Amino acid sequence: MVLSMDRWAGKVAIVTGASSGIGEVTAERLVERGMTVVGIARRKDRLDALAQRTSGKKGKFYPIQGDVSKEEDILNVFKWTREKLGPVHVLVNNAGVGCYSGVQGGKTEDWLNTFNVNVIGLCMATREALKDMTEHKIDGHIFNINSVAGHYVLGIPKMEIYTATKHCVTTLTESMRKQMAMQKLKIRFTSISPGVVDTEMIATAREKGDSEQVANILNDGTPMLKAEDIADAVEYALSTPPHVQKYFEQLILTSMY
Ligand SMILES: NC(=O)c1ccc[n+]([C@@H]2O[C@H](COP(=O)([O-])OP(=O)(O)OC[C@H]3O[C@@H](n4cnc5c(N)ncnc54)[C@H](OP(=O)(O)O)[C@@H]3O)[C@@H](O)[C@H]2O)c1
Repeated sequence: MVLSMDRWAGKVAIVTGASSGIGEVTAERLVERGMTVVGIARRKDRLDALAQRTSGKKGKFYPIQGDVSKEEDILNVFKWTREKLGPVHVLVNNAGVGCYSGVQGGKTEDWLNTFNVNVIGLCMATREALKDMTEHKIDGHIFNINSVAGHYVLGIPKMEIYTATKHCVTTLTESMRKQMAMQKLKIRFTSISPGVVDTEMIATAREKGDSEQVANILNDGTPMLKAEDIADAVEYALSTPPHVQKYFEQLILTSMY
């Protein structure tokens, strides 16, 4: 069968963390496929650059500065989107931070920020998207950019907190998928779980020297995924017909093992 993004053309998507890496490439892809995409991140200049780069493409990109760990910012983005563009059909919960501040000797502020961005921000954005989808009877699609660390304890030093947040993403996705089924709603939830992806997150971890062992693992020459591979997975999931739900509840992508 032929997969198609046609039914999403002209529909509104929100992508969190659209200023770099997976979020940036995914937002650009959705614009290329004709969607109206609102991108949120703290670095407005990077979002503006994406808006410029995508001007003239099939869809349109709207940059909005915001911090997903702040409820006020999330509410503002959804309010602006509803008023100016209409209800949200697709949400890509992508914004995330790495954390190499371990339980042994780490900093509470790092842990709080990691949970606030990776888990609470995702929940707040999901709540707002679900309001639109249920009120307007939209069979929408919500993506959570998870990680292999959301399924396995990789045992990498100082990664306990990040691993815990991504395990939260796994259980939240599956719980919400079940909630939708119980309420007979056709809103789909998809968790995409990459291994190592060549983005700023990894470049920072390599350079920062937060942990020599982490740097050694990341610098051992093993091929990495590219952000485009994750955008492909989002596009694939969106392109499947609405009845295809259970088969891709967890998409795990890895270039390694
Ligand atoms: N790279 C990997 O190996 C890998 C593997 C598995 C899963 N992931 C997941 O993939 C997602 C994207 O990461 P990436 O690899 O593409 O890293 P990245 O290039 O560092 O991108 C992270 C994005 O999140 C945004 N962000 C961070 N904190 C934010 C906040 N408080 N409010 C709003 N936006 C915020 C950043 O924007 P600003 O800084 O401009 O705010 C940026 O756009 C994350 O959820 C990450 O956990 C990555």
